[in-house]
Amino acid sequence: MRSGSRRRCARSLALVDGHASRRNEGPQVVACPDGPFLVRGDVDIVLPDGTPVPRTRKTVALCRCGLSTIKPFCDGTHRASGFRTG
Ligand code: FES
Repeated sequence: MRSGSRRRCARSLALVDGHASRRNEGPQVVACPDGPFLVRGDVDIVLPDGTPVPRTRKTVALCRCGLSTIKPFCDGTHRASGFRTG
């Protein structure tokens, strides 16, 4: 199951990359099936109190299961928890 979830995320990102190179060079967010939001491009990430979150990568995964120990980023815990999206 773990590698299956990872493959789906990778496939989603690949689709975004393919579309981005042809028609949209701007920031994009991909809702990964049963996983995080993949945020690609120049987007500021801030905490609810307005504190900016440093980014070192062009593409980051933001937790949407609520279980990550490194919020706002995904640490992969969604896989073990059985998190499912509709
Ligand atoms: S979505 Fe991955 S740990 Fe929450």
